[in-house]
Amino acid sequence: MRVEIDRTLLAEFERTVDTAHPERSKIPVKVLGYGEISLVFEIIGDKHPVAYKRLPIFDDESQVIRHVNAYKEYTRLLRDDLGIAVPWSDAAWFPSADGRLVVLYCAQAKLDPASIGNQVIHAVDEAGLGSLVWGVMQELKKVWAFNKRQSRIQIGIDGQVSNWSVPGYDRASPAVDPGKPLSYVDTSTPMYRVDGEEAMDATLLLRSAPGLLRGMLMGMLHEVVDRYYDWRLVANDLIANFYKEQMPSAVPAVLARINEFFETEASEFGIKPFTVEEVKKYYKRDKQIWVLFQNLRRFDRFVKTKLLRKPYDFYLPGKIKR
Ligand SMILES: Nc1ncnc2c1ncn2[C@@H]1O[C@H](COP(=O)(O)OP(=O)(O)O)[C@@H](O)[C@H]1O
Ligand SMILES: [Mg+2]
Repeated sequence: MRVEIDRTLLAEFERTVDTAHPERSKIPVKVLGYGEISLVFEIIGDKHPVAYKRLPIFDDESQVIRHVNAYKEYTRLLRDDLGIAVPWSDAAWFPSADGRLVVLYCAQAKLDPASIGNQVIHAVDEAGLGSLVWGVMQELKKVWAFNKRQSRIQIGIDGQVSNWSVPGYDRASPAVDPGKPLSYVDTSTPMYRVDGEEAMDATLLLRSAPGLLRGMLMGMLHEVVDRYYDWRLVANDLIANFYKEQMPSAVPAVLARINEFFETEASEFGIKPFTVEEVKKYYKRDKQIWVLFQNLRRFDRFVKTKLLRKPYDFYLPGKIKR
């Protein structure tokens, strides 16, 4: 089936969305997944199987256009220059109902939620887990081989398990075929630099942070974004995911797989092996930061909506178990 955006339906959704409870909006939606800062959903009754991500972070159309151009170019780079599979994607934007913002929707062909890495890891056996981790590392190698080959364009990527889908996944007999490349879903945060210049305006990512925190993060922004350009840090995140996903017992095996990959398939990158202690320490800190972030956002929403009776543009996930 051809996939496309139903603009009339989407515009009507934006006009009537209940941002605090999107599933209670006039046009009902079903949540497909949460990221740390976004919500991905499908519209119930949509003729096309599309996954939408709503980004209410732009003041005007010129900001949106810059972001969409970067999003399209990032997708193209991954697919054509790196050979990483990405789902069909497109974008549409509308002024918010009160005219304060321009809201961007990143659209993607909807994939089977069971095929996304963070669900796959709970369904497959240890061998499947090993194949998945190895598969992610193989895709990541395409990024860093490209970055090493030339210096004009540098590409960043977020390697977390929740950003990969296993093609042809069958939930009735969960397995990961080690010979089949994974596809990458998290394309709406386009991370690439041309001659050292970040293509997207990374400060926009801080829009969902409360004022005080935003100021603090602004100073660290370069550092925050930098970690997606560093293979070791990206791999570190991938290992730490297994703590977040409540699978601490899988960490030593996953870590061993990743160390093995760096030693055999990527020895020319000279990446230092990980230890469990190191990743544990990293995860503790990362967890504290995100819990603080989500709590401050909830507090900020409370102040804005309940005390000041002002609009609040973001959807906040419920408590995330870590
Ligand atoms: N095309 C899609 N089909 C089905 N689920 C998706 C799709 N894209 C994203 N998701 C779900 O939404 C989650 C968050 O999406 P992602 O693009 O990774 O956003 P974030 O930048 O917030 O991490 C994914 O982990 C996945 O569970
Ligand atoms: Mg993600």
